[in-house]
Amino acid sequence: MTAIKRVFMVDGKPFFPIGGQSCNSSGYNALEAEQAFKIVKMLNGNTLEIPVYWEQVEPQEGKFDFTALDALLASARRYDMKLILLWFASWKNGNMDYAPKWVKTDTKRFKRVKAQSGKDVWDLSSHCKANMEADKKAFVALCKHLKMKDGANRTVIAIQIENEQGIIGSDRDYGPEAQAEFDRPVPAKLVAAMKKAGKGRIYDIWQKSGAKKSGTWPEMFGFEAGELMTAWSISCYVDSIAEAGKAAYDIVLYTNVWLMEQHGWVRAGESYPSGGGVSKVLDIYKWYTPHLDFIAPDNYQLDSKGFEEVCANYAREDNPFFMPETIGDPNMFRAMADFNCLGNFFFGVEILLDPDGVVRPERQTTIDCIRCTAAAAPLLLQYQGTGKIHAFVQEDNVPTWEKELDGFSILAEYGDKRAPWSGKDWRHRTPGWMPVPQTKFKPAYGLVIQSSKNEFYFVGANIRFFLRPQLTPDTVGSSQLIGDSISQNFSFIVSVDEGHFDNNGEFVIDRKRNGDEIGRRGFWVEPDINVLRVITCD
Ligand code: DGJ
Repeated sequence: MTAIKRVFMVDGKPFFPIGGQSCNSSGYNALEAEQAFKIVKMLNGNTLEIPVYWEQVEPQEGKFDFTALDALLASARRYDMKLILLWFASWKNGNMDYAPKWVKTDTKRFKRVKAQSGKDVWDLSSHCKANMEADKKAFVALCKHLKMKDGANRTVIAIQIENEQGIIGSDRDYGPEAQAEFDRPVPAKLVAAMKKAGKGRIYDIWQKSGAKKSGTWPEMFGFEAGELMTAWSISCYVDSIAEAGKAAYDIVLYTNVWLMEQHGWVRAGESYPSGGGVSKVLDIYKWYTPHLDFIAPDNYQLDSKGFEEVCANYAREDNPFFMPETIGDPNMFRAMADFNCLGNFFFGVEILLDPDGVVRPERQTTIDCIRCTAAAAPLLLQYQGTGKIHAFVQEDNVPTWEKELDGFSILAEYGDKRAPWSGKDWRHRTPGWMPVPQTKFKPAYGLVIQSSKNEFYFVGANIRFFLRPQLTPDTVGSSQLIGDSISQNFSFIVSVDEGHFDNNGEFVIDRKRNGDEIGRRGFWVEPDINVLRVITCD
């Protein structure tokens, strides 16, 4: 059992945010945002992530305009949806595209990062106090405005500060202020934290570099010093903004990460922004961002191994695990079942439909995954961390999934290979009742939740479950095990119901199954049935 820190709350109750993130330009006006709201609603999602832009909010220094934000609040309430705002400010994907014009053009006051060549990089320097103070002032104005307009409703449940911060174009800032910092001793607080930890990536880099008691950044950290100093500097910058923002309005604050876990070259400042909260420097971020609720990975990994590696790196005891951007594939079930993910969002929801409003066929799996998650949200809130939730995701060439549960063995078959006697009902049965060669790979995925010994909940797609009581010496060889090849469901069934959860978390039956559609032919699950509940008895 893992203690879960539920960061997201609505009306005093734990909340599981699920939905999508809009495309980058959809927050500029309500008309643009409309499509994103509509699609999250279609997904049965409860939350839209959408940007708020520093350049739009403060077009002239000190003059704030929150018209676009107010329109977003009104739309969200109309759609009965929550918002997570993304503060696109000093950094967006390792650059400074969303800083206002008066910041971009005043390079004397608002210093940019200098590359080793002495040339400007398209990044605000984290070593320039004026940059941080200007961003902070605007962020505090945003928080105060939200408190006034949304303090009672709490339509906005969290704010992401910056977006994938860090430097693209250099491993560090080589300007005079940054250079002076580089040549100063590493802060004593960092050295003490590292020693206290006694393990971890930063600790290991320090050990490899000679484990000196004190020294400048390069003396302490060798060739990784540039990235580590930048991570320290940017995490302090972001935390200072978070501290001021939280003081103005108490709300969940976090920052997201362009990851270093990827295929290809891995170089700070080149293949990912140097100074962002990548797993290598996550310890520094945790030591220096006490005002952020968590650091969140944008998990676009497609392969299950890579995906799980990211989950493992960020789901730490000191870091509640949330994925603000994903590719929306079935791996998300692993994140929720095995890593207690607190919520996840598909990036770019608008692309799920074509301009005529028709689902793009290649996006159906994403739509189904989000719908399944939305259907299971009350179960996730109740059972994450208890060991009762199990995810299955089909891998190439693997036809089944097996698991020992409390008192039961479960066998799940992927796909439709038992089509002729599948027992699926007329809505899902293969036309003609005849086996159809499996030419296209349609993935199976989902969750099994055993809430008590004889109660099971299922969500997912393209799967059929068989349950049987665990074998004991006296049941081996008994008649209970006799059956033909399709009769593996040896449990005594009380009821099999499709349904959903109401606002009080109670299961509401929408459709009952019996006869051909249950039992010996297995319990099939598809996304459009919401949740399947199976009750067994001894
Ligand atoms: C990650 C960023 O955080 C998003 O804003 C967007 O740019 C996506 N990448 C897609 O490219």
